Amino acid sequence: MNTTVLSAINEQINSEFEASYRYLAMAGFCERQKFMGAAKWLRLQSEEERQHGLKLFDFVLARDGAVDLKAIDQPSASFDSLAAVFEQALVHEQRVTVEINTLYELCFKEKSFAEMAELQWFLTEQVEEEKVAREIVAKFRLVKNDPAAILDIDRELGARTTIMGPAR
Ligand SMILES: [Fe+2]
Ligand SMILES: [Fe+2]
Repeated sequence: MNTTVLSAINEQINSEFEASYRYLAMAGFCERQKFMGAAKWLRLQSEEERQHGLKLFDFVLARDGAVDLKAIDQPSASFDSLAAVFEQALVHEQRVTVEINTLYELCFKEKSFAEMAELQWFLTEQVEEEKVAREIVAKFRLVKNDPAAILDIDRELGARTTIMGPAR
């Protein structure tokens, strides 16, 4: 594997595990506020991000590259409101999209074709991740501080049962 590309993919593995940790911290915050539906949704999202990290972990090993796991930054665990949690989640997903785009561009420049093929899955996944986060944020913006409506959204989030991860 091209060493620049390998190092960039290792950075992305770290980013995915960091996202997993970040969503887990959000889940903890929501559960303490007794928003059990949101907490469940965020726990599943944390698991989904872990799967993203593992997908790249497996890919690097399949390419006979060395996985280089790095330290994970401490996630923030306090938020102004339930809505603020999802506002932050959306901003974070948009940041990850930029990372994936940059990584894809690097692979293109380095003619790392197998890596481009692998990253296509992540490009598609980020479209979905942003779409889902944007829909949730839109609901919170609509209902503002209406407690009954917020509880409805929490219940709706709690209906999530699966991770929408890759077919691996
Ligand atoms: Fe991800
Ligand atoms: Fe994500």
